[in-house]
Amino acid sequence: MRSASGPSSPQAPHIWEGLVHLGVPAGGHPTKGGVSGAGLERLFLRLRSGRAQLPATPTMAAAAVRQIWARKFLPVPWLLCGPRRYASSSFKAVDLQLEMTQKPHKKPDPSKPLLFGKTFTDHMLMVEWNREKGWGQPRIQPFQTLTLHPASSALHYSLQLFEGMKAFKGRDQQVRLFRPWLNMDRMLRSALRLCLPSFDKVELLECIRRLVEVDKDWVPSGAGTSLYVRPVFIGNQPSLGVGNPTQALLYVILCPVGSYFPGDALSPVSLLADPTFIRAWVGGVGDCKLGGNYGPTVFVQQEAEKRGCEQVLWLYGPDHQLTEVGTMNIFIFWTYEDGVLELVTPPLDGVILPGVVRQSLLDLAHSWGEFRVTEQKITMKEFMRALEDGRVREVFGSGTACQVCPVHRILYEGKHLHIPTMENGPELILRFQKELKAIQCGTKAHEWMLLV
Ligand SMILES: Cc1ncc(COP(=O)(O)O)c(C=O)c1O
Repeated sequence: MRSASGPSSPQAPHIWEGLVHLGVPAGGHPTKGGVSGAGLERLFLRLRSGRAQLPATPTMAAAAVRQIWARKFLPVPWLLCGPRRYASSSFKAVDLQLEMTQKPHKKPDPSKPLLFGKTFTDHMLMVEWNREKGWGQPRIQPFQTLTLHPASSALHYSLQLFEGMKAFKGRDQQVRLFRPWLNMDRMLRSALRLCLPSFDKVELLECIRRLVEVDKDWVPSGAGTSLYVRPVFIGNQPSLGVGNPTQALLYVILCPVGSYFPGDALSPVSLLADPTFIRAWVGGVGDCKLGGNYGPTVFVQQEAEKRGCEQVLWLYGPDHQLTEVGTMNIFIFWTYEDGVLELVTPPLDGVILPGVVRQSLLDLAHSWGEFRVTEQKITMKEFMRALEDGRVREVFGSGTACQVCPVHRILYEGKHLHIPTMENGPELILRFQKELKAIQCGTKAHEWMLLV
């Protein structure tokens, strides 16, 4: 039987799970005891509303949550608040060194379109680690090129991971990060999968917040614009040989980015669905944001373009399950075989990247309670049957870059399948876009946003 997924998906454990885990360092393994990003986010909300209380014993993670909480309301630096007993295995935001650039760059002309990832701000965050000394002091320094040993493991064996999140400037000129706790959560999970050293998610987030604060004037304010935040973590030991990294470098760079869609119009994309290309597999690392997952997709993207499509629909398994769209999660809004209107996306079974926007759309849809929301496997056979029956309303991708991106055509087994997304409004897509925009720009106060 098909069941609606509850509001707490595997990525968003209940607040009490967060509380149970408060006795361990926030930098611990998320499945073995670290506070999850969603857990922190929910705990923060409940603390603010007075519906939750921290345990009397100030544990490390509890202290961290208190500090975030205190920083929101006190004019003094948040790091002065509360006891600090962090694991020595993380760098600390209190140790941040700040070197301001002497040669600030010209900010982009707001009347010209901003291309994704081409313009960088004046500063970057850097933290080094090595096995003997552990983490060094975090630094905010002028944006600069890296010097890497030619044997660095990131260059040879893809010991590399990254994250992507956005900060938005609201009409009130305040800058806010969108659900950064979930990115911290995912980043730590990726790091542990690559045997890169652990870190305290709360400390890294505070360092990132400070970096964005330093380059606040770079956050564009035009419609659809934002500041893209790109944390990167690489193994850089100067020796060949596949093994645990003995040296690593974590850095964060920032890019002002423009609207994904030109003008205000939503532009739908076409997809190549060819089961001979596989992005990720069960037991693999598709659920982590590792550079190694992306390089090999460029060839497939080119293949899609050669066949007249804009992006790739990644299929998986002998039953051709729909998994992801390019670098986005996939959603289908349809009437299922049992006659029930539902929003469906594939479950987080190891093949799917747990997208922050994916989680947000699920959370919003759950909160509306107007149709069934499920995380279920979707096969091409099921999908084509629904298309033939006229049951498909909207198909779309979700991701930080575009937020919600409509799909209007799929090339599968030599046939171009027309998807009636645009003919149907696209009602749900526009509603999601509007809701996300209101939250991100601060017109609707929301606990998902972290004030910079
Ligand atoms: C493979 C893949 N799936 C989904 C997503 C969407 O994730 P998010 O919503 O966190 O941007 C991304 C984003 O980079 C991605 O690379």
